Amino acid sequence: MKSSSEILIIGCGVIGLSIALDLTLRGAKVRVFGRNPQGAASMAAAGMLAPHAEGIQAGPMLDLCLKSRWLYPEWVRKIEDLTGLRVGYHPCGILAPVYEDNADSKSDQGQWLDRDCLGFYQSGLGPDVVGARWYPDDGQVDNRLLVRALSQALINLGVIINTDVQVHSVQQKAGQVKSIYTSSGEEEADIYVLAGGAWSSQLLPLPVKPVKGQMMALRMPQPSPLQRILFAPGTYLVPRQEGRLIIGATSESVGWQEGNTPLGIQTLLGRAMKLYPDLASWPIEEIWWGFRPGTADELPILGAGGCDNLVLAVGHYRNGILLAPVTGSLIADLILENKVHPLLQHFQSDRFQHHSPRPKKTMTLTLPDSTTQLTPIDKTKGEEPDFLTIAGRRFKSRLMTGSGKYSSIEAMQLSVAASECEIVTVAVRRVQTKAPGHEGLAQALDWSKIWMLPNTAGCQTAEEAIRVARLGREMAKLLGQEDNNFVKLEVIPDAKYLLPDPIGTLQAAEQLVKEGFAVLPYINADPLLAKRLEEIGCATVMPLGSPIGSGQGIKNAANIAIIIESAKIPVVVDAGIGTPSEASGAMEMGADALLINSAIALAQNPVMMAQAMGMAAKAGRLAYRAGRMPLKSYASASSPLTGTIE
Ligand code: GLY
Repeated sequence: MKSSSEILIIGCGVIGLSIALDLTLRGAKVRVFGRNPQGAASMAAAGMLAPHAEGIQAGPMLDLCLKSRWLYPEWVRKIEDLTGLRVGYHPCGILAPVYEDNADSKSDQGQWLDRDCLGFYQSGLGPDVVGARWYPDDGQVDNRLLVRALSQALINLGVIINTDVQVHSVQQKAGQVKSIYTSSGEEEADIYVLAGGAWSSQLLPLPVKPVKGQMMALRMPQPSPLQRILFAPGTYLVPRQEGRLIIGATSESVGWQEGNTPLGIQTLLGRAMKLYPDLASWPIEEIWWGFRPGTADELPILGAGGCDNLVLAVGHYRNGILLAPVTGSLIADLILENKVHPLLQHFQSDRFQHHSPRPKKTMTLTLPDSTTQLTPIDKTKGEEPDFLTIAGRRFKSRLMTGSGKYSSIEAMQLSVAASECEIVTVAVRRVQTKAPGHEGLAQALDWSKIWMLPNTAGCQTAEEAIRVARLGREMAKLLGQEDNNFVKLEVIPDAKYLLPDPIGTLQAAEQLVKEGFAVLPYINADPLLAKRLEEIGCATVMPLGSPIGSGQGIKNAANIAIIIESAKIPVVVDAGIGTPSEASGAMEMGADALLINSAIALAQNPVMMAQAMGMAAKAGRLAYRAGRMPLKSYASASSPLTGTIE
């Protein structure tokens, strides 16, 4: 790295700040961006430094955690010296009580104390406790004090921490991050570090998802009857030296559902009182919740990102406070000295990349002879080739397909090939969260041949859809489609009929058009809305034929016909088509293209149906261009008596 290079860190939680501190102390120029949103793990955590009590098995993760715990005393001293602030570091040891029903699960680490012996360490434990493991080297830090002190240390060192701006998106080009867009404008730097906790996957398509934890704090009587952390199955009690008792934590995969719940609090209290019954009468001081940044293998993602100048430090899940010093140190080594610590190799982001099977070469698609004989245009008549043009990009095929609902990735790959489509829509959210059927999906198609149409399926509001659209753009770039600014905009608040919200769609489309997206909005077949979307600059309109996945066919042909008649942008009939005859019918009406997913994916033979749909789209288009014969009320003989050669 050049000495003049500037490093921009996205994320002002304990990980972002720790990296910033290490870099700054080693002479780098650093700026930090990001809010500490409500629910950020750094503020919500209990601050345990508990590689052993957390039950981390021997291996690279335990090595990383132990290295960090070892770094802690010196790291804390440095921060406290820089600021004069205390951070409540207390290597108090952790007792991990065991109940009868899980006595077999005693880990082989730590010292085993039976019930009698345990009494010397901690009295007053619940009657179900049969013994405990003792981890003398685990401990705690007051995470809230730590975050404040880290920020203060950086400010004292002259680093600007922009905590009141929101980072909206990360712009990439040609394998480089170019800038970030924030609520206060565009910001550029030479190197970017993403350390945004659970929110990181809102900026880049990373497999990081929120895992909610509910917490509470009680005020302990003085002198405190608890000196050590108690970490029992499903709960932990962390006595702070200043007299608070932190009780944690639930572990809930409920997405971004905020707030404490009665069940969450009941669970916390039930487990805490089982462990230490006396706390039942202590005053409650606070309840809160937070979002741990979880990954599928519960390990962090550390090191190079998908771009040359991007470094990732995300997904620390239950151990972010513990891992802050080692993350700061190893990431600074990587950026400043290009030094890849051997441990980092175990935490690379590419470990999640799924290499899906290629379609078997032996499986060939037999097209009926007639297909190959189709002559879409009569060149002798000087006709233009019949391209579908969307936002200046030309496509030969007028069929778009989807990637969801298939029984296997291979069925999807073969169906896409059989349909001869050139555009495949991909649900950004489902790929990102690896929803069932979407694992490895992004890697399953050859994106040098197929144009990706990221869609915002699963978004209920305009705001969500805008965020997911930005993510989709980055996903397309990471998969090599640098100039792909397409987004299929879906804002669908209603789960029963999956009907799009016209107001939310219009609002999101306005914003996305302003941000340079080619917006393909999914709408009800409303001619006025279609016109309005065209006026604000959408690239197409995509009216539905009937509800998504219903296979009911084109139920609203009259309205679609009005849209087709008045639109100057392509009209793509989306949703509801169940059979090739319906597909062809929509094209014969003059639709410019079709998007068909369920009818293919859920057919008994998806590959064959995909081929049929591809042919239907072609046939319908040809028929539309050819112009149908006039309708007559009465029969007209096929062998006329007039106009024939005498
Ligand atoms: N490290 C404790 C928790 O995540 O609940």
